[in-house]
Amino acid sequence: MQRHLITSAIPYINGIKHLGNLVGSQLPADLYARYQRARGNEVLFLCATDEHGTPAELAAAKAGKPVAEYCAEMHTIQAEIAKGFRLSFDHFGRSSSPQNHALTQHFAGRLADAGLIREVSEKQVYSNADGRFLPDRYIEGTCPNCGYEKARGDQCENCTKQLDPTDLIEPRSAVSGSTDLEVRETKHLYLRQSELKDDLDAWIDSKTDWPILTTSIAKKWLHDGDGLQDRGITRDLDWGIPVRRGDDDWPGMEGKVFYVWFDAPIEYIACASEWADAQGGADWERWWRTDKGADDVRYTQFMGKDNVPFHTLSFPATILGSGEPWKLVDHLKSFNYLNYDGGQFSTSQGRGVFMDQALELLPPDYWRWWLLANCPETSDSEFTWELFQQGVNKDLADVLGNFVSRVTKFCRSKFGEAVPAGGTYGAQEHALIAELDTRIARYADLMDAMEVRKSAQELRAIWVAGNEYLQAAAPWATIKEDADTAAMQIRLGLNLIALYGALSEPFIPDAAAQLQTSLNLGDPQWPENASEALAVLKPGHAFVVPDNLFAKISDEDRADWQERFAGVRS
Ligand code: 2FM
Ligand code: ZN
Repeated sequence: MQRHLITSAIPYINGIKHLGNLVGSQLPADLYARYQRARGNEVLFLCATDEHGTPAELAAAKAGKPVAEYCAEMHTIQAEIAKGFRLSFDHFGRSSSPQNHALTQHFAGRLADAGLIREVSEKQVYSNADGRFLPDRYIEGTCPNCGYEKARGDQCENCTKQLDPTDLIEPRSAVSGSTDLEVRETKHLYLRQSELKDDLDAWIDSKTDWPILTTSIAKKWLHDGDGLQDRGITRDLDWGIPVRRGDDDWPGMEGKVFYVWFDAPIEYIACASEWADAQGGADWERWWRTDKGADDVRYTQFMGKDNVPFHTLSFPATILGSGEPWKLVDHLKSFNYLNYDGGQFSTSQGRGVFMDQALELLPPDYWRWWLLANCPETSDSEFTWELFQQGVNKDLADVLGNFVSRVTKFCRSKFGEAVPAGGTYGAQEHALIAELDTRIARYADLMDAMEVRKSAQELRAIWVAGNEYLQAAAPWATIKEDADTAAMQIRLGLNLIALYGALSEPFIPDAAAQLQTSLNLGDPQWPENASEALAVLKPGHAFVVPDNLFAKISDEDRADWQERFAGVRS
């Protein structure tokens, strides 16, 4: 049995996420976690809300609530929506947890002891209109690297360059739009990432199986221009993890907090500790400490491409610099962007379909299937209502749903609601079994390799193979001449449904559960081989015809939704 630690990038607390966020990390991470569990492996799948930083403070102010209260409420909402999409986290934690406070301060202390933190007196932007320092994200301006006009003070979302607010050309306050900004002196801590450049470089070089998207972004920030820059890890904010050196005060740092991007990835570790506490004291270090059993753990992270620099450079620098045996990521799966109907999904502008809205329209499997089958894996991809309608209607309703319905209804009408006996396999059945063996092996290889789109295509091909068999075998014709053979064909069809339930569960868990229930089966079993899998349901095994698995999306609904989601969410 393998052991898989899986984390999804942790979503910001300030508002409900859109479908582009979902498909860029949480959903493919869930697919992989479900698949690894289905293969009988031990999985710890973690996610959390990313609760610090100016965005959280500002969103709370806008909602007229104390920030701690706002975060607690939004965490509950995000957790509920995650359940709605069947995201199977073992724990959905909070970066504001006491566990993360302690671990973040611990790491800062270790880094300081190792001489990897320096204090810098620096000039920082202060907004007179807003009466506060304006850190990172809340200064907007033109990117000095690519000229994008809405670059944020921490990063340009257009070219992914990590920025300092003072790098921006023509800066303005994103809070008020005010350009009445002045530069004031303040003291901050810097992580000396540049000291770790060679270690990071060698570590990235050892990751020969990582996607090019991941390694090229990391290499770019290691080598372009002046190379890897030291990063400020503290901020002048009220909300966040107070700057301490382990358990001790940090003279001169009173009233300051750690930068959100310093504590957020540490939450991956703290989340395991939160999980353990919620379990009544499970051993979480066996997942994270290589001196305590984690050396055989395979750690995979999922994230959008804008998160890659933080996960390939900053967080590994924190871990390596601590000098402690924490686990480093083994595989990092990154995604491009999903666009919305000719433009970008945007949380700040309320453009696109948000997770809560999606669930009001249709059950989770519809979204899970389409988003995964069309995820922005090797390039950006596009959500349009036409493509969504087409994908759902063809793949789910016509191919899978129709197969299930034809086989079960035909059986009920001719043999009753139990698996019929009689008949032996002929050439058609042997050919189908051979095809399925090849395809199931390929599907498993693709799922192991996290090739999400190709996995979806292969799964669909497995559904299609069943349809083609049914069409060719034509039990409705066979039965007129040879009832025994028709019974065998339908028995095979029913067993195919059971096989589809098991194979499809990572993509469409609700439909899979519905199939298992109507076939009177317990937990789905991953098939050893097609021939055994197709003998799971024995003659006489009772079943019930399931309700229609998937309804088609009508042209009216499609047009209606298209119009409803054309504007912005207020
Ligand atoms: O981009 C985002 O949504 C960030 N909140 C991701 C943080 S991932 C991590 F490092 F914790
Ligand atoms: Zn740029």
